[in-house]
Amino acid sequence: MRILSGIQPSGVLHIGNYFGMMRPAIELQKEGETFYFIADYHALTSVRDPEALRENSRQVALDFLACGLDPERAALFRQSDVPQVTELAWILSTIAPMGLLERAHSYKDKLARGLAPTVGLFSYPVLMAADILIYDSDAVPVGKDQKQHIEITRDLAVKVNETFGQVFKLPEPKINPQTEVVPGLDGQKMSKSYGNNIDIFGDEKETRKRVMSIVTDSTPVETPKDPSRSTILQLYSLFASKDEIAGMRERFKKGGTGYGDFKKELFEKLWEYFSPMRKRRDEILRDKSYIDNVLTRGAKRANEVADQVMQRVRAAVGLR
Ligand code: ADP
Ligand code: TRP
Repeated sequence: MRILSGIQPSGVLHIGNYFGMMRPAIELQKEGETFYFIADYHALTSVRDPEALRENSRQVALDFLACGLDPERAALFRQSDVPQVTELAWILSTIAPMGLLERAHSYKDKLARGLAPTVGLFSYPVLMAADILIYDSDAVPVGKDQKQHIEITRDLAVKVNETFGQVFKLPEPKINPQTEVVPGLDGQKMSKSYGNNIDIFGDEKETRKRVMSIVTDSTPVETPKDPSRSTILQLYSLFASKDEIAGMRERFKKGGTGYGDFKKELFEKLWEYFSPMRKRRDEILRDKSYIDNVLTRGAKRANEVADQVMQRVRAAVGLR
């Protein structure tokens, strides 16, 4: 089984990214051949600062490695180190129906958030389809917000196969129902563009401050609280054991504990959870060439596969 996913280097990674995409991707390293990349071509749709793009790309590689990506098992690379993917995106765009892309939620959401309505932003899902199809991927671990993009990928693959014969495999999304949408400080989906994020590697003071600012209702300390819709409890459930979660739920229902105390417990758990990863991150940072070496090796492996698939695609459509 071949597993692939990508993440944009458009900012610092948060715990929604970790539970929605990174942890599932890391766990899947044991299940098959894995390809994970830093989607820098995609990030060009929103990042206009070349230094920031370069720096964020390295940061994403660092954070992914610190969180447990094993470069002996997975190929980690920059999307732009496999430029053939833009050729495939062009070929796919010639068969992609306008209507299919016009129905994409993420384009409309991004315009609503103030991004420039460029052709690149509109055809973003076509490049994403190329990313997936160029590695003959079977499974794509992502958060729920990316599900429609995988459906578009499948639609495009079917269209190519119907037109030119069997060219592409049909990939499946891998979405973990327990972590498909991690809530942010305000209870909405956690996202860097909503400013409601808790970062994986934020500093201690800032992280504590952010956890303490989780929005709650104004139920007084002594009054029982509703555990079913609490952001604190939802986030705590990502880090704590079954018994600890049941314990906190009981204390919600009993009353006598304020939200501030629950938040402190959440902070402690979260901080402890990422402690080995912070240590690993510091170790990686000590070896100046480590990240570059990993990315170079990853790019080589990715290019081998992409070259093979592109030969098949070019032959099928009549380019060679
Ligand atoms: P953001 O919304 O912060 O810009 P991205 O769109 O870059 O995050 O998402 C990168 C990956 O992380 C995607 O696979 C996405 O589905 C996943 N992801 C992002 N936010 C969340 C969240 N709140 N819950 C679950 N998965 C998420
Ligand atoms: N669109 C994804 C996101 O914003 C990033 C991405 C680009 C991706 N290409 C991909 C994810 C291919 C999975 C597979 O998070």
